[in-house]
Amino acid sequence: MANHIILMSLASAFEPKPLQDFCVADPNSSERVNGLACKNPMLVVANDFFFSGLNIVGNTSNPFGSRVTAVNVAQIAGLNTLGISLARIDYAPWGINPPHTHPRASEILTVVEGSLLVGFVTSNPENHLITKVLQKGDVFVFPVGLVHFQRNVGYGNAVAIAALSSQNPGVITIANAVFGSNPSIGDEVLAKAFQVHTNVVDQLRSKF
Ligand SMILES: *[C@@H]1O[C@H](CO)[C@@H](O)[C@H](O)[C@H]1NC(C)=O
Ligand SMILES: *[C@@H]1O[C@H](CO)[C@@H](O)[C@H](O)[C@H]1NC(C)=O
Repeated sequence: MANHIILMSLASAFEPKPLQDFCVADPNSSERVNGLACKNPMLVVANDFFFSGLNIVGNTSNPFGSRVTAVNVAQIAGLNTLGISLARIDYAPWGINPPHTHPRASEILTVVEGSLLVGFVTSNPENHLITKVLQKGDVFVFPVGLVHFQRNVGYGNAVAIAALSSQNPGVITIANAVFGSNPSIGDEVLAKAFQVHTNVVDQLRSKF
């Protein structure tokens, strides 16, 4: 019984279940809560639960050769408090979705077109890389918080659909966070952290 209670509290500690049918985000509210305040349920309409356009091919003309089209609480107010969201990811040939982490979500990704090399790095054991090549119809999981990436290893475009276990998963792209922060992390920190000369740090910073 004691064990049972412990398991129950562990299970509910992470993302509490909503206590109401829904809590459509009210963009006008000035309430500060963990998430967004709820719109009056009597004013809720179908469009609060709706998004259109995930059929549209993302523009991959950028240095990474990929584009993420997110469908989270910013696009669908009705996702507020529900703990799920979605994204479409387009990849040009050899394009990458660069190493990044979602601080608040695990991700389950399915390839709908093309072939992807995917991978994530574990924290325990420390820095163990887990990778796999996926084909159309394959599904892969990126556990919450871990640094992960995808690369198109086919000869055509690739498309994936990713589901995430938060309505607001957040994304930290490693290179952008480290070399593109505003204001910058000091040269003395980055040069020592990466064990390179400050010239290299300046060069990397100029890209982000
Ligand atoms: C927010 O306020 C605007 C202007 O008063 C109103 O038109 C809109 O319906 C409000 N939105 C919600 C979700 O209540
Ligand atoms: C794609 O993005 C590039 C770079 O921002 C831009 O020049 C181009 O017009 C865009 N293409 C389309 C079809 O929107």
